[in-house]
Amino acid sequence: MRYLITSALPYINGINHLGNLVGSMLPADVYARFLRQEGEKVLFICGTDEHGTPAELAALEEGLDVADYCQRQYERQAEVYQRFGLSFDYFGRTSSQENHELTQNFYQCLDENGFIKEEEISQMYSLEDERFLPDRYVIGTCPNCGYQSARGDQCENCTSVLNPTDLIQPRSAISGSTNLEVRQSKHLFLELNLLSSKVESWVEEHPDWSSLTRSIAKKWLNEGLQKRCITRDLNWGIPVPRTGFEGKVFYVWFDAPIGYLAMTKAWSDRAEERNWLNWWQQSEDVRYVQFMAKDNLPFHTIMFPAMILGTGKPWKLADQIKGFNWLNYYGGKFSTSSKRGVFLDQALDILPSDCWRYTLLAISPESSDSSFTWEQLQTKINKDLADKLGNLINRILKFAASRFDSRIPMGGVPGEAEQRLEAQCKELMDTICQCLHSLEFRKATNALCALWTIGNQYIDEQAPWKLFKENPEQAAMVIRTSINLIRIYALASYPFIPSTARQIFDALGLSESERTSSFNSAVDFSILKPDRPFDVPAPLFQKLDDEQVARFKSHFGGE
Ligand code: MF3
Ligand code: ZN
Repeated sequence: MRYLITSALPYINGINHLGNLVGSMLPADVYARFLRQEGEKVLFICGTDEHGTPAELAALEEGLDVADYCQRQYERQAEVYQRFGLSFDYFGRTSSQENHELTQNFYQCLDENGFIKEEEISQMYSLEDERFLPDRYVIGTCPNCGYQSARGDQCENCTSVLNPTDLIQPRSAISGSTNLEVRQSKHLFLELNLLSSKVESWVEEHPDWSSLTRSIAKKWLNEGLQKRCITRDLNWGIPVPRTGFEGKVFYVWFDAPIGYLAMTKAWSDRAEERNWLNWWQQSEDVRYVQFMAKDNLPFHTIMFPAMILGTGKPWKLADQIKGFNWLNYYGGKFSTSSKRGVFLDQALDILPSDCWRYTLLAISPESSDSSFTWEQLQTKINKDLADKLGNLINRILKFAASRFDSRIPMGGVPGEAEQRLEAQCKELMDTICQCLHSLEFRKATNALCALWTIGNQYIDEQAPWKLFKENPEQAAMVIRTSINLIRIYALASYPFIPSTARQIFDALGLSESERTSSFNSAVDFSILKPDRPFDVPAPLFQKLDDEQVARFKSHFGGE
């Protein structure tokens, strides 16, 4: 079996706060790292979703050409994800040449198969800007509440859904011009209605999806699929290869998921031995798993599969679709505009990536929405990471270094306590492994923490520092057991907190091949043999004190 893993492509102008990370890229990364650790063949693909009105509007606001804006944002995003330890095999862009070609190819196949329909719709045209205005480019007074900067699709003030023609004194968001008129414009529609039964039988083939994923797919199918407009009067995007459609592009949601394929192709083109079709077409042995927040589920359970099925080509469909609920900030939404919540780059400026990764995974909004608080972060860092993992490792290795000359000591015979420790480790490693296979990240993280707890219990009971005076042979055995336990901790922690795991691997002087082991065979207390040297790492985590928490809270707007 090979694993293809994609996480929803972040918008180029994305808000990129913690909430965006937790529901797609981070769990996808844990899954990819876990499978690689197990020795599986993995391809993990992601990239920026660059087209559409929001990107154009954001570039406009910054006074940049949209292509330049996207280039800059792409680099920023790629950098911050790398700092978070996200181990994409390739991080691409939907604006790539590969995606242009594939998207046009998808359209042509859909058209040949009779799933594309042409229709005229009326749209606002700005004479001064010499262009059609997408709904949200039209600004005016809300007819319901009188808010003066309501957008043509929705009033932000009273949340009512609007049409541009509802607005009082409509004006262009680009130039501010009120010289607007309604004009007819030709557009293409994907006839989802004709693809409905195909999509439905595909959904039915997957009773193993979570209830969140299944219920959203079912809801859409039950309401009946409608034809959907897949073109826009915009310049920024992928041109529509059809006469009479000059100056129009595909709707961003049409080209974005095709980006998964196009990015794999771009990855493939960068080395001789790679073959992207081998992942997307000759792929009976590929298990394809997608990660995303719940608002993306309709596109991945209905629209994108409909597009694929409509092409009639043997493109790979998802085997598993993992959806996440929302991560809130103190019960409310993360909000850029009202300065509530934490951006990814800010997060990394104040704390190491593993502190974030661990905390976010532990509070992951899997079965329902969940809430981030600074107090929770403090508890996770201080109690779990610093006390249970960091201090344990430091205590043991420091003691071992001073009493046994920085080498794993010889002597003593393992007894009942060690047998119990081994049995507990096996059980918890098994739990983590099963949870990760079934994509239950919160549970897996809890089991990891439980694994750290049993080591603390063992060492407290055995108290090698005391034992050393009475029975140095036994103390040596306890320390040898503990150092082997640290090895197991590093292996188990690696998918979750990879840079900490690396520090531990380094301290133990593990070779490349010793750093991967399946969870099943990892629990072996005789791998690190007597006389093997080790180093004492610098403290792995720093605790967060109340004063810092108070500072973060006031700076980032907690409560
Ligand atoms: N950019 C979208 C979002 O952040 C996700 C696109 S996923 C893809 O909600 F499949 F379309 F690429
Ligand atoms: Zn309003």
